[in-house]
Amino acid sequence: MKRLLAVIVASLPALVMAATSGVHLEHMTPDLEDKASLQRGVKTYLNYCMGCHSLKYQRYERTADDLGIPHEMFLENLVFDKSIRIGALMDNAMNTKKARIWFGTASPDLTLVTRLRGLDWVYTYLKTFYVDASRPFGVNNLVFENVGMPHIFMELQGIQIRKGCKELPKIAANGGEMRDPLTSKAITEEICGSEIIDRGFSPLELKPDSGKLTVEEYDQLVYDLVNFLYYVGEPSRLDRERIGVYVLFFLAFLFVFTYLLNREYWKDIH
Ligand code: HEC
Repeated sequence: MKRLLAVIVASLPALVMAATSGVHLEHMTPDLEDKASLQRGVKTYLNYCMGCHSLKYQRYERTADDLGIPHEMFLENLVFDKSIRIGALMDNAMNTKKARIWFGTASPDLTLVTRLRGLDWVYTYLKTFYVDASRPFGVNNLVFENVGMPHIFMELQGIQIRKGCKELPKIAANGGEMRDPLTSKAITEEICGSEIIDRGFSPLELKPDSGKLTVEEYDQLVYDLVNFLYYVGEPSRLDRERIGVYVLFFLAFLFVFTYLLNREYWKDIH
């Protein structure tokens, strides 16, 4: 009974998390056979994410072997700290206490993130940062409201504006805010979409389509990255599935002999 209670209590945060965002999640189908995608994914991860997020339950060597990258090439091109050996865990030097000051929270390890949050969540998360001037880094996220993480791919994806409108003071011809002459209250108007940025409302003076990558290229980048995170969540998944098939074949084979043996044993008993 105690154990059952412990299991229920332990799974509560996941239930709460699943319930918090009502945003439609974009679906993605991972493909662990696609080695090129996984190789691009690990490259993006080590370039853009590793500084803040470790993958400390995984080793460089296993990653290189599974993804078919020779050890020297992996260390030379993807690992920036030259003191790291290929057998090391994929940890980083992020100081948790400092991270709490910088971001309001520590940046979590991501080895198991696709298993905790689900693939679609992580995929959607990386695609739904939008401009929000009220946040410390000027961005918010659709599936993770008031997130502490900056939009790492802002340069590549560009700026997204949350669809919808805001009440802003009307601007007079002389550039000042228009006010009601009687009450001297500001006269407001509804401003929608990219005009919010044109009004200087956002600290980020970029246009919605200002990213270096096209929409398709950005989707591919995020797909490869999440595909890699899916692999890291369970590196032996492909082996497990392959061995599983052999086990089933073996059981089917064994069944024939067990059946014949059974018949032999019961032959004389009526
Ligand atoms: C500058 C540091 C920094 C970088 C670089 C960074 N992140 Fe983050 N990330 C954070 C912080 C801080 C949080 C915690 C946000 C919170 O809890 O509000 C976070 C949270 C996350 C989460 C949500 C984790 C969870 O389950 O709560 C995911 C997923 C994530 N980051 C993925 C990435 C990926 C993928 C990259 C690389 C493209 C990346 N991050 C780069 C700082 C960073």
